[in-house]
Amino acid sequence: MTDTLSLSSSRSHVPLIERYRDRLPFAPEDPIVSLQEGSTPLLRAPVLSELVGASVRLKLEGANPTGSFKDRGMTCAVSAAVREGAKAVICASTGNTAGSAAAYAARAGITCAVIVPDGKIAEGKMAQTLIHGARVISLAGNFDQALKLVRELTESHPIVLVNSISEFRIEGQKTAAFELHEDLDGELDALCIPVGNAGNITSYWRGFCELGAAPRMYGFQAAGAAPLVAGHPVEHPETVASAIRIGHPVRGEDALAAAAESGGAIRAVSDEEILAAYRLLASREGMFCEPASAASVAGLLKYGAGGARRVVCVLTGRGIKDPQTAIEHNGGSVIPCAADIGAIEEAVLGPHPPGLQPAEAPAAPPSAAAR
Ligand code: F0G
Repeated sequence: MTDTLSLSSSRSHVPLIERYRDRLPFAPEDPIVSLQEGSTPLLRAPVLSELVGASVRLKLEGANPTGSFKDRGMTCAVSAAVREGAKAVICASTGNTAGSAAAYAARAGITCAVIVPDGKIAEGKMAQTLIHGARVISLAGNFDQALKLVRELTESHPIVLVNSISEFRIEGQKTAAFELHEDLDGELDALCIPVGNAGNITSYWRGFCELGAAPRMYGFQAAGAAPLVAGHPVEHPETVASAIRIGHPVRGEDALAAAAESGGAIRAVSDEEILAAYRLLASREGMFCEPASAASVAGLLKYGAGGARRVVCVLTGRGIKDPQTAIEHNGGSVIPCAADIGAIEEAVLGPHPPGLQPAEAPAAPPSAAAR
């Protein structure tokens, strides 16, 4: 490897806590549980940029080791748990926190239990959580009920809660804002981000505030699970974006404060808008994210950039985590084919099935609508 190569690639080999130790609650002698998280790519999005009339980039948080942004917070939460001598961690989860907690607990050699809403977590997330050896409890209830129950449980048992109620999670996740600030030399006007339990938008805003930066924070909830837009908890949240199927976000107040203080907003996008953005990202930008992540782009397309010139959309998780939704909503179909050259010719060269057509471009968003 040449010097230049080793220099430019070295950052990704530094565990997140080491990279930002001076800004995180860890001393040099503390034990660190790391899977080399963070230092994720920031990808230009030419198609989106053209559509919204701004320079749009995608922060690829799915490039973290377990495929979502949760790893930034989890390296901190699990390292802190190990520092305290904990033997077990637990979380309620719509899937990604579960996968991340399970992986970091495995790495640390401690026990992990996760409580997930029955039948409502994507297949890839269930698979990774199980293979890491976590105890998976499928609750006859939703995420909000699961979180209430684990909070109660950890009050009377020596198990560390690693949901984003934990300050360590927020501390770890704020590092994504540091990376954006560095990568863009502080030149960022607006951030678009999906909102579920509202820990991530809270974290970014904390990170930006620590740097004295103030991009407008635009948070997007799924319309069927939009308590922060409605102004009250949602009893039965529903959305195709299972990761953000949350009706009572524990960091809701912080998220509203982040939006208000930055001059941004928390808004809703429909499942149809989420799926349209999901397909557009995959078919035009070459980026396969999970449906919840596409809410950030759906929001940008719906409400516009509000006059912002430089925008980042956070793609929080990898598409491959939720194969079922991609298979059900890709708009195309698999072509069956007999094993002979005539059939192959027809299949390859014949009329395009819908999924092979260039994706339809959504209407341009209102240019100054994101007030
Ligand atoms: N995007 C993805 C892919 C998520 O998994 C989540 C949350 C969010 C966005 C929203 O982030 O909750 O900090 O506002 N997933 C949690 C989980 C709830 O259990 O995996 P948030």
